[in-house]
Formats: sequence, structure tokens, C-alpha cells
Amino acid sequence: MKDDNFLRANNARHLWHPMGHPGDMMAHAPTIITGAQGSVIEDIDGHKTVDAVGGLWCVNLGYSNDVVKDAIAKQLYDLPYYSAFAGTTNPRAIEASYAVREFFADDGISRVFFTSGGSDAVETCLRLARQYHRLRGEPARTKFLSLKKGYHGTHFGGASVNGNIRFRTAYEPLLPGCFHLPSPYTYRNPFNETDPAKLAQLIAQTMEDEIAFQGAGTIAAFIMEPIQGAGGVIVPHETFMPLAQDICERHGILMIADEVITGFGRTGDWSGSRHWGVKPDMMSCAKGITSAYFPVGAALLNDKVADVFESSDADGSIFHGYTYSAHPVGAAAVTACIEETLRLDTKTNAAARGTQLYEGALALADRFDIIGDVRGGHGLMVGIEIVSDKAAKTPMDAATMKRIHQTAYEAGAMVRLGMQNILMSPPLTISADEVDQILTGVEAGLKAA
Ligand SMILES: Cc1ncc(COP(=O)(O)O)c(C=O)c1O
Repeated sequence: MKDDNFLRANNARHLWHPMGHPGDMMAHAPTIITGAQGSVIEDIDGHKTVDAVGGLWCVNLGYSNDVVKDAIAKQLYDLPYYSAFAGTTNPRAIEASYAVREFFADDGISRVFFTSGGSDAVETCLRLARQYHRLRGEPARTKFLSLKKGYHGTHFGGASVNGNIRFRTAYEPLLPGCFHLPSPYTYRNPFNETDPAKLAQLIAQTMEDEIAFQGAGTIAAFIMEPIQGAGGVIVPHETFMPLAQDICERHGILMIADEVITGFGRTGDWSGSRHWGVKPDMMSCAKGITSAYFPVGAALLNDKVADVFESSDADGSIFHGYTYSAHPVGAAAVTACIEETLRLDTKTNAAARGTQLYEGALALADRFDIIGDVRGGHGLMVGIEIVSDKAAKTPMDAATMKRIHQTAYEAGAMVRLGMQNILMSPPLTISADEVDQILTGVEAGLKAA
């Protein structure tokens, strides 16, 4: 292990950071986080902050869960790795698939395909959706529908259904045949519709129109996050996802719920889809599946999809997978994490502390004119949109957003920025006092702006 001087001198010199400009990272060295306990992280200077980001929407159990740590450590000694490609498996993979299936049984999930993370999980869903239709004798169903402002990871498939131009332009051309519908973003939308229920209807109509234009027989799947996370915590009206599911069913289109953030309790229920009474055909999940103690994701399938594969001829073989699919150490982490998630009933604390955080943010909006919109109300996902002119809804400039972030950090709250949004997704085990500390930090940031 190197000393602090070495770490400071080499910070961002050799490592390229995801979602960062390499030159900018060199000029403004990223904060070195050296330790964490519970919901609190500590940097190299010994400064402690409540982690309102939860790592990256992922450390659901907080940083100190010994059950998960012990399960990982034990598995490293028993069997650190063996492949799960056709022909071999391992005990932890069998247990973990059972645990995930049980966890999402009420969502209609019956089969599990493990991946190394969320982007892989999305990619798996997209690929299996195409294969599903091919096996059913509809090989022309290759296109995908998704929502603007959606985030579905960074693989070519996921980036293609991504609805944020920032993650697309540099890597175009992306996958052909991906079409984006308006986001259920009441604060800004092309219809200037401020009523969320009416907006849901308008988007549903746009979806119908797009399907008619493309031809239903060419569309494989529709993918959406039950609550859009990275796009700014955009909560659709309760009618939207059921409307979309009904359209999908009527047109033979698979519905994929991207639950990478919303799965495993973050929204105050075990899946985001449950809030809207929807049982999707497929779900992608990651993050909370291991609480980030080990990189794992999963594509989950219902019986309708699984039956087509399982009763098919040789073409139903899955020519897809990752070296680390069903990794025994990751699988041990999954089972332990699910047991802890259930034992601690994290969804209940997420709902209570989420309400506290959301109401605290709404109270700040009464006092600070630069708050244009506050979004949340479903567990520990809260977004505050900052504007420089409230009437014109002008997005706040990047330099001011950075100042808000830095001041909040100095005042004891690590938040995340997504353009003009302050995004908050702390561990689901967070205490009421720690939520207050986040709000105090955000308030300090707003004052500085
Ligand atoms: C909804 C959603 N899907 C997919 C991903 C990609 O997951 P990963 O970063 O683990 O590849 C993310 C990541 O934040 C996400 O929020």
C-alpha cells in the first residue's frame, strides 16, 4: 500500500474516470474516499460526510454490513471462481438464483440470468427479447422503444435505448431501430402539459402512434425505468406504466422494466414496478442486488418469456453470457444481501426516510427561488432541479452547480449532480439524523449559490 503523498501525486494520472474528462480530472483531482461506516464516508483529509449518493445509487445496506462481507470472504476461500457456462455451475449460483426468484416472485419473475452489472443486464434483456420473437416465428421484431431521459447503461444496446443525448453523441452511430418517446417529465415536456395524468395519456398516445408508424410486427420490446433515476428522478404518473404495459400487450411487444436503481427496496417497495401495479415480462437489475459489495447484475424473466426458450429447439440456446455470470463470490454476495435486505426490511426505512428527505427538499423550495422543481415521494430517490430564472425555467449553469456540490460536501453531505439536478439516493439504512444532515448540507450549497 502506498502512502497519501503517492496517492495525491498519482491521482487521475493513470486512471481514466467514467463520465469524466481525463484532462479535467488531472486538473481538478477527484476526491479520494478512503473509508466508510454505515452511511458516512471519509476522505483522505479525514473529512466525513453523509453519503447522499449511496455510492452510486447502489450501497443500499450501507457500508458496514458484516453478513455480506463475511459471505464474500468465506466464498473466496471455498471457491473463488468457476464458470457457469453450459455444463458447470456452483452451489452459490444455485442458491442466489433461488433467492432472487423468490424475492421477485410477486413481480411474476421465474428465471434469472446473472451478469456483471446493470449495463450487462440491460444488454441481456434486449438480446433475449429479440431471440424470444425469433423463436416464436416473428424474426422481424427487432426494434426497441424507450423513453427520453431514460438511462440504461453504456453498452451499445443500452446506449441506443438511452434517452439522454450526452451519453449518445460521441459514440454514434448506435443500434438502428431504437425510437424514443417523451419522458413523463411534468416540469418540462414538448406538450407543455403540467398535469401528470394528462401527460401520461399524451405519451401513451405517442407510443400508439409510433407503433402504428413503425408497424407493431417490427418492435421487440419497450424498456423503461419505473422511476427515471439518472435523468433527474422523474416519477411518472401512476397510470403511465400500466398504460404502457397495456399497449405492449395489445401489440405483442415485450415490456422490460429497468430496475437497476429501483429494485431491492430503494423506492419503498421491493421493485419499482410494484408501485404501478405492473408485472413486466423482463427486469434488469444490479446495484442493490449486492448492495455494491461485489459487481453483479441480473436479467430476470417471467414464465411467458422463459417458456418460449425452454420449449424451443436448439435455436433456444443462449449464445450470450459473461465470464463472470453467476460468479460464486458474487452469488454469495447476492444471497447474503437479499437475506439482509429482508431481515432489515430496508424498504420500510426507505419509505420513511424518503418521505423525510422529500419533504425537507420541498421545504427548501419554499425558501430558495433557484429551486425549480422537487421530485421524489417514492423512497430514497429525490431530485432537486436548480434554475437561474424560475419563471423562464433556465437551467442553472455548471459552475454554480459545482459550487453547490462543493459547499454541500464541506457542510457534511455528498450529493450527486446530474446536469442542473441535485440527485440524492442514500443508503436505505440511513437514520433520521443523517437525513437532516443531508438537508443541512444541501441548504448550505443553495445559500452559496
Ligand atoms: C436504470 C439503469 N440501468 C442501467 C444502468 C447501468 O448499470 P451499470 O453502471 O452497473 O452498468 C444504470 C446505472 O446507473 C441505471 O441507473
